[in-house]
Amino acid sequence: MQLKNDIFLRAVRGEKTERPPVWLMRQAGRILASYRAVREKLSGFKELVETPELACEVTLQPVDELGVDAAIIFSDILVIPEALGLPYQMEEKKGPYFPHTINNQTDIDALLAADEAAERLDYVYNALQLTQKALNGRVPLIGFAGAPFTIFAYMVEGSGSKTFSKAKKMLYQAPDMAHELLQKITNATILYLQKQVAAGADVIQVFDSWAGLLSPQSFNEFSLAYMQQIVDAVRPYAPITLFAKDATGSLLDIAATGCNVLGLGWGTSPTQARRLLGANTIIQGNLDPCALYADTNTVTALTQKMIAGFGQHHICNLGHGVYPDTPLDSVKAFIDAAKNFRYQ
Ligand code: CP3
Repeated sequence: MQLKNDIFLRAVRGEKTERPPVWLMRQAGRILASYRAVREKLSGFKELVETPELACEVTLQPVDELGVDAAIIFSDILVIPEALGLPYQMEEKKGPYFPHTINNQTDIDALLAADEAAERLDYVYNALQLTQKALNGRVPLIGFAGAPFTIFAYMVEGSGSKTFSKAKKMLYQAPDMAHELLQKITNATILYLQKQVAAGADVIQVFDSWAGLLSPQSFNEFSLAYMQQIVDAVRPYAPITLFAKDATGSLLDIAATGCNVLGLGWGTSPTQARRLLGANTIIQGNLDPCALYADTNTVTALTQKMIAGFGQHHICNLGHGVYPDTPLDSVKAFIDAAKNFRYQ
């Protein structure tokens, strides 16, 4: 299909663009009144994720209402552990909770095989197909999954955590078992992402939200090695973005995986990132989401400064998902700053 707005894809392919494309992580969500209205009528978050028509509807909301340059399919990274046999609950205001966790070899042995797990996620593939049709070429569609380490962290810990020390304990006490679990997650994730591309995802993003909890050495062993497998398996089919939040000690290693785009948290300045990664690495990010609590003139100025700092080969985004209580005017000021920018 001929895209009407292909600036995001052109940037992902490494072409120079007249301005940076812009979208926001978590753009489909509680910042939009239209999202909250859909959500209120439902039994909960999972009903939204598991009903393709509704997932499609909320995926389109930020495209229609905010004018972002890419859509990201509405889903969650936690559908993979659930498909492997570890269901999650989404508790209001508290986040995800797993009634059963992985504690020993028996728990790992009980998980489903990768192909069976990937087959249980038809609702995601259906949502992608519906959304691609409804977008009708307006903007490209991003598919995604959690990085194996971040999924591992939830499966062992059972919920969010400041330190994830229970999950990290397994890395140090039973590294072989940790590797076996990480490999199982990776195998399922690869099939899942390939099926997302077949269903219409134009670009894939991998979220390693908890990468920053690992030392550079542990990150390379327990996270990057598995993301490398994913890059190798997905890149023949679609471009891929790796977002390993706060893995600031491993940026060169992440770039060396051959990922198309490197996502950055706000802990790295544009100057520092360019000094390390050079002018040609395609970087996505990285304004502090809290910067959007400033008045709109400040948001505009901060966004322009970031864009000028990165220069070409940059996709304008935040350094993490947008917070649900962010004023919509600030979100719009952020998007407009990117859309009105022109590279010299
Ligand atoms: O717009 C988009 O970016 C697409 C949708 C999307 C969601 N989750 C929807 C969602 C994406 C890409 C994710 C990824 C995700 N989910 C990550 C990685 C990105 C990150 O933020 O680090 C993680 C760690 C999760 C797990 C997860 N899901 C948590 C910790 C929470 C609770 C936090 C919260 O904001 O309440 C969720 C729930 C969730 N996923 C919501 C949304 C819109 C909010 C739930 C609601 O509407 O009630």
